[in-house]
Amino acid sequence: MPTQWSPKLYLVGCLQITLTLATLQWSPCASNPALDCTTLEVPLEYAEPKNRALAYIPLARYKATVPQSQRKGSLLTNPGGPGSSGIEFIQNGAGEGISNVTDGFYDIVSWDPRGVGSARPLLQCFDTAGEEADASNAFPAAAEVEYSQFRNQSYMPSYYAAMQEYDSSMGQLADACAEHNSSALYTSSAAYVVRDMAAIIDALEGTHNAKLNYWGLSYGTIFGAEFIQTYPERVGKVVFDGVFDAAANAQPYTSQLPRDELNVRDAINDLATLCTQAGPDGCALIQDPGNRTTTNLTTRIANLQASLYESPMEVSDGSWSITVGTFSFFMYSFLKLPTTWSVVASALSSLEKGDTDLFVSLLTGATTTSAINETAPGTASLAGWPIQCTDNAPSSHTELSEVARLFLNISLTEETPWLNADLSTLSFCRNFPDTRPRVPNLGASKLTTMETNDILTEHDTPVLIVNALHDPTTPVNSAQVLHRWLPTSSQLVTRQGPGHTTISLASLGLVQAIRGYFLEGDLPTKMEMHEVSQMVFSSEIAADTTTPAPVFNGTYSQADMVLLESTSSIFLAFMGLP
Ligand SMILES: *[C@@H]1O[C@H](CO)[C@@H](O)[C@H](O)[C@H]1NC(C)=O
Ligand SMILES: *[C@@H]1O[C@H](CO)[C@@H](O)[C@H](O)[C@H]1NC(C)=O
Ligand SMILES: *[C@@H]1O[C@H](CO)[C@@H](O)[C@H](O)[C@H]1NC(C)=O
Ligand SMILES: *[C@@H]1O[C@H](CO)[C@@H](O)[C@H](O)[C@H]1NC(C)=O
Ligand SMILES: *[C@@H]1O[C@H](CO)[C@@H](O)[C@H](O)[C@H]1NC(C)=O
Ligand SMILES: *[C@@H]1O[C@H](CO)[C@@H](O)[C@H](O)[C@H]1NC(C)=O
Ligand SMILES: *[C@@H]1O[C@H](CO)[C@@H](O)[C@H](O)[C@H]1NC(C)=O
Ligand SMILES: *[C@@H]1O[C@H](CO)[C@@H](O)[C@H](O)[C@H]1NC(C)=O
Repeated sequence: MPTQWSPKLYLVGCLQITLTLATLQWSPCASNPALDCTTLEVPLEYAEPKNRALAYIPLARYKATVPQSQRKGSLLTNPGGPGSSGIEFIQNGAGEGISNVTDGFYDIVSWDPRGVGSARPLLQCFDTAGEEADASNAFPAAAEVEYSQFRNQSYMPSYYAAMQEYDSSMGQLADACAEHNSSALYTSSAAYVVRDMAAIIDALEGTHNAKLNYWGLSYGTIFGAEFIQTYPERVGKVVFDGVFDAAANAQPYTSQLPRDELNVRDAINDLATLCTQAGPDGCALIQDPGNRTTTNLTTRIANLQASLYESPMEVSDGSWSITVGTFSFFMYSFLKLPTTWSVVASALSSLEKGDTDLFVSLLTGATTTSAINETAPGTASLAGWPIQCTDNAPSSHTELSEVARLFLNISLTEETPWLNADLSTLSFCRNFPDTRPRVPNLGASKLTTMETNDILTEHDTPVLIVNALHDPTTPVNSAQVLHRWLPTSSQLVTRQGPGHTTISLASLGLVQAIRGYFLEGDLPTKMEMHEVSQMVFSSEIAADTTTPAPVFNGTYSQADMVLLESTSSIFLAFMGLP
């Protein structure tokens, strides 16, 4: 539904100027009438505001539950990706969950970022949904290479050949995407998204220069960093959760890759330690009776991976085989989600015994999309890659041999066995044109000069940075770097344990810090670290689903239980995004 624009008159001194402010017409969302939906029109090309081409940004809102007079404004949230749907995030339960955490004082609002979901134009790489699905199915889940061979010189020719094969399938996808030349291809980078965010909050508050309240998760922290640099005077309460390194993201992806893996080994060790501590009643991997040459879980997982390299395992209907690439992709996907580790342990234990069924059902559950209409227009499900590429500096000069060497080096230095499942962005971007959007990203340019810190400090609008210590995807190191760029205008609060973003395992202390900041503006005076309040392995946790009911350890008041359960609901909404 188009937005209506209503011109308003403003008197500035003796000059009369006309500014337009969008008036949002909300109506119940089609898929969930308890929420409100609308669409905001914004310029497609901010470099050319007079050009009348528009982008349509859909919004969804979970309304504040307090009386209008007590309402504290709107709180935007973005679930990262890049390219994840904020509308789905709100609809999956994040709206109510975040509202619960903030006592209903805010309208909780999200949007589908440019180019994706129900935004228009879509950043399509193909004409039809059928071609898009075929392309998705055509490239491998990960490069078919094996970590335990990385010090074996005789293995290197096979290694380079497998890398070449993987890279050329990603390259075909990048070529198709560039050739399709969607009008959203070079207008969906972070600089454009934060201008949309500014337009969204102005439209929501019905005023110019409204301030941003924001909970950005994962890649959503890139939008947070770009926003506070672009509009430092418009910072309200901003939370960075699961921090991406904004400086590395402004460089070619070869700079980002080494920063991705810093805590992967810690997370693997957490899995092994927590499983061992839980014992046979809590963790299926412990249930195997003796007769193994090793009971060391880390070694067993490594052996399983190596055996799949030697001989891929046919699935029960014989239609395909689990390869080392499939296994790496599986481990990479689930390592960041500790709430799934109970069922993951069951799947690994079955796989060790030659039973592929549970492994396959988790894997396809993680990748299957609903039935598609082959001839319908593409759905932009591949848009995350080109968006990431255009946020990075050009990398067509990156040679495959450099990627291959870097990958070996990081894997060995960080002792991480499945980096082969994290090479898609680098391969895609190195095969993607060097063309960049006309409005450049600030990246980290005003963070590194302390310019943003000075303005936030002057306005007394500090931000809150939160991270898990063993986050295998967005390492705590990136959160510490962001805090160093904002030394007098931010505080860093961490929680122990694994998981991507702080909400991946509920922590009472951590969620209370977020709540106190949004409601009262409280920031801890010192860096804080909180305990996890949620069990990873326990006999009370269902081991047959990736979304078991959460089990909290400790005794909590009813109010605290609402905070913990709401954290868990927000995370389920996050996890449920494709
Ligand atoms: C080293 O690699 C070669 C070639 O792939 C292989 O034949 C050999 O078994 C490997 N050595 C070890 C110790 O795995
Ligand atoms: C892509 O489309 C834009 C207009 O959206 C046009 O200016 C540009 O020349 C096109 N590029 C290619 C390589 O076709
Ligand atoms: C170990 O294997 C042997 C024979 O292979 C069997 O007799 C014995 O019961 C097994 N022990 C355990 C603890 O499973
Ligand atoms: C398991 O093996 C790994 C690698 O050899 C080692 O680093 C780790 O300490 C072992 N874990 C335990 C619990 O013995
Ligand atoms: C599939 O998409 C085409 C093109 O958009 C449309 O004409 C057709 O009705 C759709 N078919 C179904 C079954 O929805
Ligand atoms: C990785 O590269 C760095 C810098 O080039 C080098 O110092 C280090 O020895 C390499 N590590 C491995 C395990 O190859
Ligand atoms: C709860 O369990 C987690 C592991 O699942 C542990 O790290 C944490 O310390 C425990 N918290 C409390 C309050 O006992
Ligand atoms: C929000 O809190 C209420 C209790 O106050 C609870 O019933 C509801 O399930 C919570 N919603 C979410 C999404 O956690």
